[in-house]
Amino acid sequence: MPTVAIAPSILSADFGRLAEEVTAVEEAGADLIHIDVMDGHFVPNITIGPLVVKAVKKVAKTPLDVHLMIANPGQYIDDFADAGADWITVHVESGPHPHRLVGQIRARGCRPGVVLNPATPLATLDYLLDEVDLVMLMSVNPGFGGQKFIESSLKKIAALREIANGRRQTLDIEVDGGVAPATIAAIAAAGANIFVAGSAVYGSDDYRATIASLRQRAEAAIVEKRI
Ligand code: DX5
Ligand code: ZN
Repeated sequence: MPTVAIAPSILSADFGRLAEEVTAVEEAGADLIHIDVMDGHFVPNITIGPLVVKAVKKVAKTPLDVHLMIANPGQYIDDFADAGADWITVHVESGPHPHRLVGQIRARGCRPGVVLNPATPLATLDYLLDEVDLVMLMSVNPGFGGQKFIESSLKKIAALREIANGRRQTLDIEVDGGVAPATIAAIAAAGANIFVAGSAVYGSDDYRATIASLRQRAEAAIVEKRI
């Protein structure tokens, strides 16, 4: 069974208490901390830069999964690596050279992944899949937390898992957007194993119960699919 990982997105955390919010989800069972970097160009919102990543790194015990939703990401990969990013994912739509970006991330000792927006076809991965450690599929249009899961993502996740089974059995497939207890089983059954959840975790009263419920539903769906 591919290892299930739950990655709370701090986009929905209380930024005034960010350090506490990071520690709280880690103590509640988070496997990774997902950090949404937005620049107001690639997506219509502005969020976090390397300084905040550096501050999170000081308190985090789990790896930092840094999702770059920025124009010209190549210019900032070193800054995010210096700030303490462990995983760095870049959008294939963010420029003409995703292959180069992946090499840049790996050269900095970070785990590289590429991200596809909902309308971007899997064919963009044909000559990238062998270079990356993970692929993240957006199941909302990036820019904001709390959006509704786009149902057609399920077909895309399943198609990617099928491609991976023939080429890269250990490929991590991460899904970002609208992941919640009500949607995670279908997402896991389709073939994803890493789940970003922002509003579902930080919007809940009990982080531990929510993370446990997400994990249990994902694992059960994967087991059921195997039977
Ligand atoms: C969207 C971000 C997501 C976002 C997910 O642009 O990449 O990581 O925080 O939020 P939820 O889980 O609320 O859909
Ligand atoms: Zn994200």
